[in-house]
Amino acid sequence: EGNAGYDISSLMKETGNTTLDVGFVNTASCQSAITYIDGDAGILRYRGYPIDQLAKNSSFLEVSYLLIYGELPTPSELEAFTSRIGRHTMLHEDLKDLLAAFPRDAHPMSVLSAAVSALGTFYPNSLSITDKDQVELSTTRLLAKLPTIAAYAHKKSQGQPTLYPDNRLDLVSNFLRMTFGVPAEDYEVDPVVSKALDQLFILHADHEQNCSTSTVRLVGSGHAHLFASISAGIHALSGPLHGGANSAVLEMLDKIDGSDDDVDTFMKKVKNKEDGVKLMGFGHRVYKNYDPRAAIVKETAHEVLQKMGVNDPQLEIAMRLEEIALKDDYFVERKLYPNVDFYTGLIYKAMGFPTEMFTVLFAIGRLPGWIAQWREMMEDPATKIGRPRQLYIGEPARDFVGIDKR
Ligand code: ACO
Repeated sequence: EGNAGYDISSLMKETGNTTLDVGFVNTASCQSAITYIDGDAGILRYRGYPIDQLAKNSSFLEVSYLLIYGELPTPSELEAFTSRIGRHTMLHEDLKDLLAAFPRDAHPMSVLSAAVSALGTFYPNSLSITDKDQVELSTTRLLAKLPTIAAYAHKKSQGQPTLYPDNRLDLVSNFLRMTFGVPAEDYEVDPVVSKALDQLFILHADHEQNCSTSTVRLVGSGHAHLFASISAGIHALSGPLHGGANSAVLEMLDKIDGSDDDVDTFMKKVKNKEDGVKLMGFGHRVYKNYDPRAAIVKETAHEVLQKMGVNDPQLEIAMRLEEIALKDDYFVERKLYPNVDFYTGLIYKAMGFPTEMFTVLFAIGRLPGWIAQWREMMEDPATKIGRPRQLYIGEPARDFVGIDKR
């Protein structure tokens, strides 16, 4: 989850007291008790619990609680947490005016980030980073309001009227209704869709110090409030090498017609690095064996498409690409395997989400992780403002030259 384009062996360079580590390949920026990853063994755990167990047995809100507070909630804790969030899903009417002012073709990730940033202007009295009650309130507001904002961003792009949240529904069903429902008509939440989306949110909920989480921490390390830090994280997530990869995969699949020739030509382009073409949804900075989330997502993709009766030829193309890549020296030598984003786009598409919304879904899923990481950092007495150094490679000292002499 990052960008390099440098030869790994030359990344570490000791120069006096400064270490050059482009893309922070080998540098830990903090200590954290939230998420454990063993990239070689393909292990991911939240607070010690294996991701496959959580994906199978838990819910997104339960996992959010786990990430933020460190333990799985008791039934009464979960009930109180759920009801607290249910009471904050509404948006201030003036915030809706702000959302309405964006152009219709605005990218929903930009709308999402701008709206989260604007939350800081609507709650000026709860921006403290030290007052525990205020941090708690901002946490609740973010978890509750982000799905509403995301649904509004979608409605805006479709030119459709928005729906108020229906808090009798659970968080994911509520989000689906606000996204796909129409005013004055009943909307039946498909339990297959709701369960699959809940599971995808769990899989995305935290991933230690990836690009967007590091951004949230870096912005917060200057004591910026939670809304500002999360807004920055959303922007970081939007890039195609990070959260934007899920939509980039579908854009890539759109360009391949599925014939053997076309698949081969595409793979040749990737291996020759023609025009910087990559097999999107493949490769990971940390996982060099397999991404444990990808295995779960692949299974879900098959299940969801089958249960929804969707026969998507792009799923076939994706499986062909994976099959070829897993046997091809180029990918094997570089330890490139499908990451979480390789199959998610196909599921989101089957659910009816337009491509621009895919990364927004990632953001909703990643939110509890960002919040947990921000809070952990703020509570850690060892935290310092993030301030990387650089190796200066510019001109040596020289005297100013007057404009008439240049
Ligand atoms: N397709 C083709 N070649 C690739 C790919 C890919 N998807 N990913 C890496 N490579 C190649 C690189 O060109 C490089 O080749 P080289 O050794 O000949 O120079 C080698 O594999 C190592 O890649 P790096 O870019 O150095 O690896 P890094 O750890 O910096 O990047 C990243 C990881 C950004 C995820 C990269 O694999 C990539 O761009 N993948 C596609 C985008 C993607 O799917 N992003 C989602 C990441 S997961 C997430 O954010 C949830």
